[in-house]
Amino acid sequence: MPERNVNQFFTSTGHSFSTGEWLDLHFYAVEKEYTAMLKSTPIKMGDKILDAGCGNGRFTQKISELVGEDGFVASLDLAPENLSEALRNIRQNHCPCLVVPVRGNVSNLPFDDNVFDGVWCSAVTQFLSEVDFIKTVSEMKRVVRPGGFVAIKEFDGTLFYFSPFEPTLFWKSADLMDDQKKKNFLIRPIQMKSILEDSGFVNVEQQTFIIEKRAPLKEIERNYISAFFEAEDVSWVTLDNIPSEDQIFWRRISDPNSSTYIINNKNFYWREGHVVCTGIVPLDF
Ligand SMILES: C[S@@+](CC[C@H](N)C(=O)[O-])C[C@H]1O[C@@H](n2cnc3c(N)ncnc32)[C@H](O)[C@@H]1O
Repeated sequence: MPERNVNQFFTSTGHSFSTGEWLDLHFYAVEKEYTAMLKSTPIKMGDKILDAGCGNGRFTQKISELVGEDGFVASLDLAPENLSEALRNIRQNHCPCLVVPVRGNVSNLPFDDNVFDGVWCSAVTQFLSEVDFIKTVSEMKRVVRPGGFVAIKEFDGTLFYFSPFEPTLFWKSADLMDDQKKKNFLIRPIQMKSILEDSGFVNVEQQTFIIEKRAPLKEIERNYISAFFEAEDVSWVTLDNIPSEDQIFWRRISDPNSSTYIINNKNFYWREGHVVCTGIVPLDF
């Protein structure tokens, strides 16, 4: 068996699929769809927005364009290297408004009450336990003014699919996830609306966005999806835990040197789903 690439794009703070390299692979392959997700929120010109868990700042850039020169963005992240990269990207791309990078934890925000018009939080809460998730939602509510919004975007594992592939193999793998991972990827995205409602938000709306890519892939899509397969773990389960015949299958379809490398299949299809849940802080809060 050839040596496998087991890079799972870990940050110094231990979060997988979260380095700048990975975030760029993902962001640019689905930029149009990600932009539509951001634009589904009530964000508007002149807003002061917190980009909570900003990664390397690609959404920060888009937010700055939507709030314009009279707006403001605070970009917060736990991983110092992501924050430095965000700062570099922000400087290079000449964001139209003032952007301030802040090192911090989404569960304990270093801001006064009511200072933002909105919070955008993409692909961060998947790393939180349920207790920390609820604490984070309440922190976000605290720092947003009454009438402002909190928008949380998460990957919904129940919508993840690719083909040609035996679909039940996926669910066998998913069944081997630990309970926390199952909750975060499979259950929480569906529950986000009720969690925000239970936390006191009003007018809570949850929208699901489907991203589909088909052969022939554009180079940018191929780079992203091939990195995903070659990272081996594919976020679901380590191969070591699944039956050996399934391991062999996974390895065959994800090996770029194999004639059965799935990405080279003329019928290749890729689907991922993201949920955006937006709640408004009540005026009497
Ligand atoms: C998958 S990346 C998403 C980055 C960006 N929001 C995006 O969608 O492109 C997850 C990011 O969340 C950050 N993160 C994870 N847990 C965090 C926490 N408790 N507080 C602040 N940032 C956190 C990681 O450092 C990483 O930059």
